[in-house]
Amino acid sequence: MPLLETRGLTKRFGGLVAVDGVDLSVEEGEIFAMIGPNGAGKTTMFNLIAGLYKPSSGTIRFRGKWVYPVREYWRTYLPPLAGYYTMANAVRQALGAGRLPIGLRPHAVTALGIARTFQNIRLFSYMTALENVMVGEHVRMRAQVWDALLRSPYARKEERQVRDRAMEFLRFVGLERYAEQYARNLPYGFQRRLEIARALATQPTLLMLDEPAAGFNPQEKAQLMDLIQEIRRRGITIFLIEHDMKVVMEVSERIVVLDYGEKIAEGPPQKVRTDPRVIEAYLGKSA
Ligand SMILES: Nc1ncnc2c1ncn2[C@@H]1O[C@H](COP(=O)(O)OP(=O)(O)OP(=O)(O)O)[C@@H](O)[C@H]1O
Ligand SMILES: [Mg+2]
Repeated sequence: MPLLETRGLTKRFGGLVAVDGVDLSVEEGEIFAMIGPNGAGKTTMFNLIAGLYKPSSGTIRFRGKWVYPVREYWRTYLPPLAGYYTMANAVRQALGAGRLPIGLRPHAVTALGIARTFQNIRLFSYMTALENVMVGEHVRMRAQVWDALLRSPYARKEERQVRDRAMEFLRFVGLERYAEQYARNLPYGFQRRLEIARALATQPTLLMLDEPAAGFNPQEKAQLMDLIQEIRRRGITIFLIEHDMKVVMEVSERIVVLDYGEKIAEGPPQKVRTDPRVIEAYLGKSA
């Protein structure tokens, strides 16, 4: 069973089909890359998988669990609950509360084991590097509100552990010296690494990186790819969006190519590189 699987995944924005019936599977332990021209739908794919966008149609499964639609899961495995769901929706709609969500919310997707970084860096600017990573760990913390309010021994112990672990993640990405700096004051390249550290702090099984090396020079790119391979060696599967063909060819075992929202090729780098449709998508348009 693949780690992550989408079937017929589709997202429409008004008349525009940003993602068009995409089937893909990411296998456990691989570095899987998604490439394609600007506007091909790559970031939209990430947003669908992460629960940020609701698909127009199609399915998403992670480790055999449904991410979208959750309703389908109930229908298949728990028929009585499906009836409850329909009834609950009728009541909610009568009260003007809107339908129940039928996909997992972003925090639930994170809790399942999917972490991601953003094409446009999203950090808490006025928090320190360390605090940003601690936020990532939050999804795994156990202390309850009353523990925090009462400063219970459990909450204090957990807070210490969270701090120590956050420091380890910073060390891992090479930023321990900047732990107390505001995120906004870090150089661009360090902010990218900090985002990766925060994603790792959620203890993911799958790490999705949206153009993590954008704007890097060749040397910075090479260093980042080393880091990505090191993350994989720790047992985390990598799903990478990257523009630089050379980087993608070197680092990934399998590649999927999107063009106008459609999957036009999939396979090992050598095969994809020589695929006529891929060559056309990349070169044909500028020619
Ligand atoms: N929230 C949105 N509302 C409307 N249209 C959107 C939205 N998000 C993306 N799109 C459109 O969907 C298409 C795919 O966009 P997407 O950002 O997924 O492309 P991409 O492959 O990540 O491109 P890039 O390489 O430039 O990052 C584009 O035409 C874009 O304008
Ligand atoms: Mg994008």
